[in-house]
Amino acid sequence: MTGPSVLTLGEGLGVLRTSGIGSLAQLPDLLVGTGGAESNVAIGLARLGISVTWLGRVGDDGLGRRVTRELRAEGVQVVAPIDTTAPTGLLIKEHPSPGRTFVTYHRAGSAGSRLRPSDLDPVDIGSFSLLHLTGITPALSPSARATVRVAVARAQAAGVPISFDVNHRSTLWPDEDPAPLYREFASASRLVFAGADEAAILASDPVTAPLGLAAEIAKLGPEEVVITLGADGAVAVCGEKATWRDALPVPVVDTVGAGDAFVAGYLAEWLLGGGIDQRLDLAVRTGAAACTHPGDWEGFLFRSQLDVDGDDPVRR
Ligand SMILES: Nc1ncnc2c1ncn2[C@@H]1O[C@H](COP(=O)(O)OP(=O)(O)O)[C@@H](O)[C@H]1O
Ligand SMILES: [Mg+2]
Repeated sequence: MTGPSVLTLGEGLGVLRTSGIGSLAQLPDLLVGTGGAESNVAIGLARLGISVTWLGRVGDDGLGRRVTRELRAEGVQVVAPIDTTAPTGLLIKEHPSPGRTFVTYHRAGSAGSRLRPSDLDPVDIGSFSLLHLTGITPALSPSARATVRVAVARAQAAGVPISFDVNHRSTLWPDEDPAPLYREFASASRLVFAGADEAAILASDPVTAPLGLAAEIAKLGPEEVVITLGADGAVAVCGEKATWRDALPVPVVDTVGAGDAFVAGYLAEWLLGGGIDQRLDLAVRTGAAACTHPGDWEGFLFRSQLDVDGDDPVRR
């Protein structure tokens, strides 16, 4: 495939979700799927026609094989060393009430968290158009953090731009302040994505307004900072110029994955040379679509869906 290509690395997880509304304390069954912030972005990019490689360590088990099968089925190129000494991690999603989601992670000591720098050896980072990272991977373990740092150094040495989605997961930071690490990766990046709460972690001044938060992150060095605001949309700040976009109103089933879909839409347009308006237009569409599906990535848009009239309830 010609055209731009993206490398991302992270942990692929099994996803177990309750099929009804209520707690796992009572509900009788679970549905099986897969997820992971970086692999979700990879699927979003692949569905939009961008060549993308996901790299991550998986266990020698059914969930690990499911992670790699689903990514390959979605057109993502997969580099996944198999770790025979640790299981594939998983998360459980419950819906205590309609439109609300409760997630618990079971990933401590998982295969994905045992990512190590030598896992990068099969890929030539300099051959990609973009390296996409999140704040999750470096929080998984010291070896995963070292791996992300090596990937950053190789990308920088080869002049490959980096995008960084903060994606703060408080349970991964029980007794460490994440701010220095997030600032380190933001400084190394061309593009940074953060929710308002996440941006506040990186800020050195106690600002709360989105533009102030974006300015705080921009001080660290990235060319472009995008603050996502959930149902209130997003603002992209590039130099002096701030561009706002409302979210698209949709019937919300589950907002998990919206940020990943948004990032995939934004990066796809960025890679294809679209301006900030086009990047945001596609990002809010892909972000909204993700909210309409209970799975983390299953509702992500395909490029072929972008021109289809969405009002027709039945299409034959
Ligand atoms: N309820 C919603 N309705 C429509 N779009 C949404 C909704 N929630 C999120 N989005 C879209 O997804 C983007 C990312 O969502 P956000 O919740 O900010 O990120 P994250 O999933 O990382 O927490 C938003 O900027 C918006 O465009
Ligand atoms: Mg996010």
